[in-house]
Amino acid sequence: MKTTAEVCPLCSGSGWKVVPGAPDGGVTRCDCLRRERGSALIAAARIPKRYEHCELSNFTTDFPGADRSIALAQIGASRFVREFDPREGKGLLLVGGIGTGKTHLAVGILKELIVTRGTACLFCDYRELLKQIQNSYNDSVQATELEVLRPVFEADVLLLDELGAVKPSEWVWDTVSLILNTRYNDNRTTIITTNFADEPAASVTRSLSPARAAAREETLGDRIGERMRSRLHEMCRIVKMDGPDFRQKFRSASFG
Ligand SMILES: Nc1ncnc2c1ncn2[C@@H]1O[C@H](COP(=O)(O)OP(=O)(O)OP(=O)(O)O)[C@@H](O)[C@H]1O
Ligand SMILES: [Mg+2]
Ligand SMILES: [Zn+2]
Repeated sequence: MKTTAEVCPLCSGSGWKVVPGAPDGGVTRCDCLRRERGSALIAAARIPKRYEHCELSNFTTDFPGADRSIALAQIGASRFVREFDPREGKGLLLVGGIGTGKTHLAVGILKELIVTRGTACLFCDYRELLKQIQNSYNDSVQATELEVLRPVFEADVLLLDELGAVKPSEWVWDTVSLILNTRYNDNRTTIITTNFADEPAASVTRSLSPARAAAREETLGDRIGERMRSRLHEMCRIVKMDGPDFRQKFRSASFG
């Protein structure tokens, strides 16, 4: 039962409030209802504590050494929210080095979609997800693979953070394919962040000299397979984020 203090003064708990000045006592949804739905969606999105502060509005593009790509990425993020059409299914692939603000921007998009559009979103750490799926094969664990995956399949907008962060194996590739193909087939929007350059796998690049092959950094193609990398190009618009590690900058700025 609700105490008097909790009852909304605008609508007395009915969820509807009178539109001021409306001729025939018109009513509209009360803000408290919108707020409640917003907080329920935020909770359901499972955004980790570490990223709770991330908003589009506190993503700065104006700091010493800021790369131009960061400002372009922010403009792209705002446009994505403005033009978001859940039926279209086109997502974003944020690619860039450590600490360039990929997760911040992606979480900012999620929150903005929740607040302004009431979209059902889900944050999903790639490494964590694969661990949970692997765990579900263990008999002593209650959740089945499908139970772990259902929210990942069904979220209107999925944020898959740190794609490629798990050492590739046949199983990893199969699992990534299952997730991406299911969302692709259902025309659902996926936002992805990755540290790995959006470049082909070693197997399809022209043969390199042993020295160059050893120095070559792993690519997204190496980590998730060429088929899935090409699928991603159909599912997402690519956004590159370059520049310094924002965490390092902050540390040196506050202590130096
Ligand atoms: N442009 C920015 N404005 C404000 N805060 C930022 C910005 N870029 C990064 N940050 C902050 O710096 C920290 C690191 O950013 P974030 O986690 O988004 O980086 P990332 O690109 O996802 O890094 P990683 O590759 O390690 O996952 C976060 O706390 C984030 O809020
Ligand atoms: Mg990140
Ligand atoms: Zn109310």
